[in-house]
Amino acid sequence: MIKKEITTIIYEYDSVQELSTEDQLLVKKAKEITANSYAPYSHFYVGAALILENGKIITGTNQENAAYPSGLCAERVALFWANSEYPDVPVKTIAISAKTNGGFTTIPVSPCGACRQVLMETEIRFKIPIKIILAGEQKVEVIENARSLLPINFDEEFLKKK
Ligand code: THU
Repeated sequence: MIKKEITTIIYEYDSVQELSTEDQLLVKKAKEITANSYAPYSHFYVGAALILENGKIITGTNQENAAYPSGLCAERVALFWANSEYPDVPVKTIAISAKTNGGFTTIPVSPCGACRQVLMETEIRFKIPIKIILAGEQKVEVIENARSLLPINFDEEFLKKK
């Protein structure tokens, strides 16, 4: 038996102002777009803003549905839109923020498992790490790549015959 340990590196900031100008802009866009979230069931309004390698910023919000599983998270809305519009342009950074009835969350919101899987796929597809910024009002977490959020992952390698 071998015991293996997996380490996840997270950069934690007290304030968004400690981030680069570009990253601050992405957080601002993610927060702004929460206004477009359609979340009549959870009342949890999520915004995602990503920047592509060509400088284009794409945003997304969670879109809920009375048939609950038919909804989609903000991250995947943004990623799928970006990949549909710009299939050849890598995603560089994504910022995520969320609002509840009381305002923006104080702690950062983590992407769900399915969104991590899609982030991972996008990272593999373009062979470029995607920086992930989880923005809370009192704490901001930055993760250097999607792989860090999904260390034991399923990917294309399993689909190849061995
Ligand atoms: N949600 C997101 O959009 N992104 C996340 O990272 C976490 C959860 C959405 C899904 C659902 O519309 C609502 O938040 C409550 O789970």
